[in-house]
Amino acid sequence: MDSLTDKVALVTGAGSGIGRAVALALAREGCRLVLAGRRGEPLARAAEEVRGHGREAFPVVCDVGSRAAVDGLGQSAGRVGVVQVLVNAAGIAPAASFLEMEDVLLEEVLRVNFMGTYYCCKRFLEPMIDAGWGRVINMASTTAKTAYPHTAAYTASKHAVLGLTKVMALETARKGVTVNAICPGYVDTPLTQENARRMAARVGSTAPAVLERFARTSAQRRLMAPDEVAAMAVLLAGPAGDCITGQGVNVDGGGVMS
Ligand SMILES: NC(=O)c1ccc[n+]([C@@H]2O[C@H](COP(=O)([O-])OP(=O)(O)OC[C@H]3O[C@@H](n4cnc5c(N)ncnc54)[C@H](OP(=O)(O)O)[C@@H]3O)[C@@H](O)[C@H]2O)c1
Repeated sequence: MDSLTDKVALVTGAGSGIGRAVALALAREGCRLVLAGRRGEPLARAAEEVRGHGREAFPVVCDVGSRAAVDGLGQSAGRVGVVQVLVNAAGIAPAASFLEMEDVLLEEVLRVNFMGTYYCCKRFLEPMIDAGWGRVINMASTTAKTAYPHTAAYTASKHAVLGLTKVMALETARKGVTVNAICPGYVDTPLTQENARRMAARVGSTAPAVLERFARTSAQRRLMAPDEVAAMAVLLAGPAGDCITGQGVNVDGGGVMS
């Protein structure tokens, strides 16, 4: 039963939305934070917020879809300590119908959402095993378990993330490491707001009307809050998560029940 105090946690996509909320929640639990993303400014802001909780924060600019960049991230994080909590929250979600989808869109979504998760797992898992304790939390989606129209690339990427999660969990189960995915429904983040604006423009509706449609995919008829997803990450990362591995935990107000 290890507490999170002074553990080094790396959160990708930490500059906004879910990643930012997870970074702050882990800071409140006592973690030292490495924050990764492509844009320096939001990362610097999130790092300041972490420091506001009295915890160290190290922002690192990194495109997780590049193996070389993730190797660089590994070197930077290594100067802080062994990363024992890895949260892969970087992600993109452009929408297109299958027939209209360009190859380049599918390739980019898989590069960021799947290869980015894979590169980070590949880089940080072994030192966790060597340290005898670690937590990997991959931000999947309910689309890892079901599907919605116009999300072929995103849905494929999240199914792949959940599959990878399960295999890694099996291979690390007796090595002190747990590997889980969180499957949020629609969360009120910049990504969701942007998707609502784009969909509204495409179908001749308004962003609030589209957000209302998103909310209706949940049995609770609402969007989730980033802090609600972060609370699940804290549970999985902390001592209460010791025997939970290989799961895709829905945080979606009862939208998907499998
Ligand atoms: N919002 C939802 O409804 C929802 C539902 C289910 C699952 N999710 C998943 O939750 C995760 C976070 O989503 P969110 O809603 O919080 O979105 P968000 O607010 O747009 O945050 C995504 C973050 O990922 C970073 N990012 C994007 N591409 C990157 C790359 N190549 N390398 C490094 N960082 C990158 C972005 O920062 P930069 O642009 O600076 O890189 C951004 O900070 C994603 O994996 C998403 O698929 C979201």
